[in-house]
Amino acid sequence: MYIVKRYSAVLLAFLAAFAMVAALISGHGWAQQKKFMADTHKDRGLDCSACHKETPPAKAVPSEVCKGCHDEEKLAMKSAEKFGRQNPHDNHLGAIPCESCHHAHKPSVDACAKCHQFGFRVP
Ligand code: HEC
Ligand code: HEC
Ligand code: HEC
Ligand code: HEC
Repeated sequence: MYIVKRYSAVLLAFLAAFAMVAALISGHGWAQQKKFMADTHKDRGLDCSACHKETPPAKAVPSEVCKGCHDEEKLAMKSAEKFGRQNPHDNHLGAIPCESCHHAHKPSVDACAKCHQFGFRVP
């Protein structure tokens, strides 16, 4: 009897922990799907005109504008530390537009995934 009780307590604790983890994972996924890059910039006080030089905003934003704020070399170095040669910011595709991966108003994509499975999560 004692053993049965103890067993069910452990089982309950396990189930509770599992439910919490499941909730955390799904909550995280939801938040990621809803926030696009334009939103994360807005959260940092950067509105439409930080990226769009035309008023009102109408066109895609050239990579030159992104590079005005994001130093490509620093990006590449940081990515090299994390990914080694499988570097999203320095690789055999050469200078591809930021927009090949990063989208501002819709989910970003992994342009390497056409040919490789590096498992990048593009913000
Ligand atoms: C006016 C300056 C500015 C411009 C222009 C700009 N950014 Fe940013 N961006 C920032 C700042 C500030 C942050 C927050 C700090 C950081 O991560 O560097 C940020 C963050 C990011 C992040 C990380 C987002 C996250 O969720 O953590 C990505 C990716 C990014 N920018 C890509 C781009 C791309 C691509 C463009 C061009 C379409 C662009 N940025 C244009 C200033 C800018
Ligand atoms: C091949 C896809 C790809 C391209 C093209 C690309 N990125 Fe990224 N970018 C990524 C991935 C993947 C990450 C997430 C890296 C990580 O997990 O550390 C990222 C992260 C970032 C971040 C956040 C870095 C941080 O410290 O958190 C910024 C800023 C950024 N990219 C800017 C740019 C800019 C500017 C360009 C164009 C010059 C560009 N990216 C081109 C895939 C790409
Ligand atoms: C971080 C840079 C950035 C910010 C901030 C930003 N945009 Fe954009 N915008 C882009 C990029 C890049 C595209 C090209 C399409 C894409 O990647 O989603 C674009 C495309 C557009 C387009 C053309 C239609 C389309 O989806 O291609 C419109 C309209 C637009 N943006 C409006 C806005 C408005 C309004 C704001 C402010 C609320 C804003 N943008 C803020 C980068 C930005
Ligand atoms: C059109 C297909 C294609 C795309 C897209 C592509 N690659 Fe490759 N990549 C190849 C081929 C083909 C090779 C050589 C064969 C091999 O080693 O797998 C290669 C080799 C590599 C290698 C050396 C092999 C290894 O795994 O160490 C790296 C690193 C690499 N690619 C990174 C990237 C990155 C990062 C991106 C996205 C920015 C990318 N590739 C996009 C086709 C592609």
